[in-house]
Amino acid sequence: MNASIIDGKALSEKIKQGLAPTIEAIKAKGITPSLTVVLVGEDPASQVYVRNKHNTFIKMGLDSEVVSLPSDISQAELLAKIHQLNEDPKVNGILVQLPLPDHLDSQLIIQHIKAEKDVDGFHRLNAGALMTGEPQLIPCTPYGIMKMLEDQGVTLRGAEAVIVGASNIVGKPIALLLQKAGATVTICNSKTKDLAAHTKRADVLVVATGRPMMISGDMIKPGAVVIDVGINRLDNGKLVGDVNFDEASQVAAAITPVPGGVGPMTITMLLVNTIQATMQQHGLEELS
Ligand code: GUN
Repeated sequence: MNASIIDGKALSEKIKQGLAPTIEAIKAKGITPSLTVVLVGEDPASQVYVRNKHNTFIKMGLDSEVVSLPSDISQAELLAKIHQLNEDPKVNGILVQLPLPDHLDSQLIIQHIKAEKDVDGFHRLNAGALMTGEPQLIPCTPYGIMKMLEDQGVTLRGAEAVIVGASNIVGKPIALLLQKAGATVTICNSKTKDLAAHTKRADVLVVATGRPMMISGDMIKPGAVVIDVGINRLDNGKLVGDVNFDEASQVAAAITPVPGGVGPMTITMLLVNTIQATMQQHGLEELS
């Protein structure tokens, strides 16, 4: 079998085009949705991600600001900055780029972002809303994955969905979204015994471990839909996912490439969340 490629770049462009009239309508009311990204330190990968987010927002006519802070900033200073952004009416969305330097408590810092401005969907109020089936701001990567599955016409009702990786950013929220869509969900983690026994059952396999090419072709059910969230740079400079793409594409029915799969969707869903947050903050729900 030769899998079809799920083109996240093309779907991103389609969604962005669909957002343009909504952005116009908001701007016609004198409001420009705005995102502030807080970047601590000089991690090169984070710098690239933040620049991509910024450029996408500017291209779409939204406001975007990057607050760059030194890697030795104290927790109190960082919290003071977040509180200032919380109170700034011109800031609709706040995103603290992860990972943070080790001396900072990421989980605590995220909880200080006002939930209504938490466009990452990481605050416990947003996480809890997802858990109870009443999602507010949904984490961008899982949200993007659901849009890809929807666009592909993948049947989720009754499907076996297996997730490898149990993070708050991807694994846990995608599990909840797939479950809400009617899938039977298994979440595997680094301690799972006989991982292949689980992955081989999956009609939909989502892999988010950060371990390059850890899922081989023989771990995949023929005809599965494979979503690879990983972006890993090998020593030779090549970007690869958490799935061995060459092997997997011989077995799967459809697979996301790396790059050009999940990555572009994450940024696009950040746009969606920032627009949604802006509309809610201004009582503009009727626009959507
Ligand atoms: N670092 C890697 N992915 C993400 C993300 O989705 N949000 C934030 N804030 N940081 C990240």
